[in-house]
Amino acid sequence: MSRNLVAIRHLEEKTITDLLGMAASYKEVIDSGERKVDVPTHSLGLLFFENSTRTRVSFEMAANYLGYDFVNFSGSGSSMSKGESLKDTLLTLRYERLEGLVMRHRSSGAPALAGQYFDGPIINAGDGQHEHPTQALGDALTILERRGDIQGMKIAIVGDVQHSRVARSNAWIMHKLGAEVRFVGPRTLMPSNTSMMPGSVYYDLLSGIEGADVVMTLRLQKERMTDGLLSSIGEYARLYQINERALKAAAKDALVMHPGPLNRGVEIDDEVADGPRSCITDQITNRIFVNMASLVWAFGDGGKPKLA
Ligand code: NCD
Repeated sequence: MSRNLVAIRHLEEKTITDLLGMAASYKEVIDSGERKVDVPTHSLGLLFFENSTRTRVSFEMAANYLGYDFVNFSGSGSSMSKGESLKDTLLTLRYERLEGLVMRHRSSGAPALAGQYFDGPIINAGDGQHEHPTQALGDALTILERRGDIQGMKIAIVGDVQHSRVARSNAWIMHKLGAEVRFVGPRTLMPSNTSMMPGSVYYDLLSGIEGADVVMTLRLQKERMTDGLLSSIGEYARLYQINERALKAAAKDALVMHPGPLNRGVEIDDEVADGPRSCITDQITNRIFVNMASLVWAFGDGGKPKLA
């Protein structure tokens, strides 16, 4: 049976650990030199109504390793620019015989809505300020590879929490896997109602990252901001930038993460981004394997990977 992957919030812990286990075994198969894993194939639409580098390419690589056929679709080059609705676009794609969709959209809730018009599985590749489940799965896999366990870790999510779907998905996944989650950032970039989110709030960087095992910093998402939320980028950087000086407050061996794209010199400096604590390149690579696991799970194909 096929299913949608719209949000981490609605997943059971067992599903999350199964997905992470599948991703780790796909990584092992591909890293051993195989070009493909042996799973039932499908035709997949990659629908990106918002810009993307990492997410789009990692889904293309995942589809390649799974042996799927895929087509790319973006709002701007399509009939949506002639005014076609999302509903009619999805119905069209369904009758073009696409069996599943990966979808990024600037509106929160768009992938869930799409599920009403499209028959096959839908994977959310980031919807507005809501969730970005495959980013969080890739980040969890990255921490597990480095530390073996997430249970009991202190994870500080720093910066523009208000506009970040990465923050929401990561908060849920880390909380469900037993971590203590902290949100750290200026008041103007913190959601007005944080009681619905699994974590405590800090407005001061050093107290927020004190003793943290993972410091996950976020891009300042200017495209989603209204004017006046920040007095200046320079002041934000002075108060919230993750650099070696700030990291003295975190655990000695703290991992530093960032989902990308990076504003170097704003939320993170070069020394830390390119330094030994940084997990940024692993975060990118691991997306491929969690995407593979998510696709196989969403299509209901299950099972351990076999060599092709
Ligand atoms: C993120 C996104 O688009 O939500 N990027 C990504 O997928 N790695 C984060 C961001 O845009 O800041």
